[in-house]
Amino acid sequence: MNSILARVLNEIALHYSFYSDFLKKKDKILDIGTGSGYTAQYIKSQKKDIEIHGLDIFNLLKVDIPIFIYDGKKFPFSDILYDDSLLFYVIHHVRDYKKLLEETIRVTKRNIIVIEEFNMPEAEYKIELEKEKRTLKAIGLPTSFYQHNFKKEELEDLFLSFSLKLRLIQKLDSQTDKKIEKYLYVLTK
Ligand SMILES: C[S@@+](CC[C@H](N)C(=O)[O-])C[C@H]1O[C@@H](n2cnc3c(N)ncnc32)[C@H](O)[C@@H]1O
Repeated sequence: MNSILARVLNEIALHYSFYSDFLKKKDKILDIGTGSGYTAQYIKSQKKDIEIHGLDIFNLLKVDIPIFIYDGKKFPFSDILYDDSLLFYVIHHVRDYKKLLEETIRVTKRNIIVIEEFNMPEAEYKIELEKEKRTLKAIGLPTSFYQHNFKKEELEDLFLSFSLKLRLIQKLDSQTDKKIEKYLYVLTK
């Protein structure tokens, strides 16, 4: 296992401890923008009685979890089918992020859990982009994803514009050498 992947897996476990209490027994969870699937696999290993599905525009799985592949527009699910949805490092990769959020809200009954990273003021965009590409490559994901460099306030305004209520905001430890800050948000309708 390469050292970047080891660090990513370590962070998945660490970050889980901040939102795990929001996931209830027998919850049905949708991991949107599943990517490699390591997060979904970790959650399933910790909460055996939950059901977790992936949703992505590509099948990039490195693990065995159920996944739905769609066209990036309307989620292939009925309203409030899932108790909780996860959007981990996804919103800034989606051109039509408002549609993504609208669909997430439509299919989610309770919690929308978001992890996003923001460049620090001193960060040089191009350097951080190269570091992000290195991380994506190390965890087996393509490096050509679209990138929107969200400011923290911009993302939080987006949540407000959808009238989402903030149940938790938590600054997360980031073990990368990137000049970024990571935040966890737990939101409800
Ligand atoms: C940086 S990866 C994050 C993967 C994973 N959530 C994680 O925490 O490692 C971004 C993921 O978002 C997916 N993605 C891009 N556009 C999407 C869309 N419109 N709907 C769902 N997933 C999308 C990509 O295919 C990719 O798997």
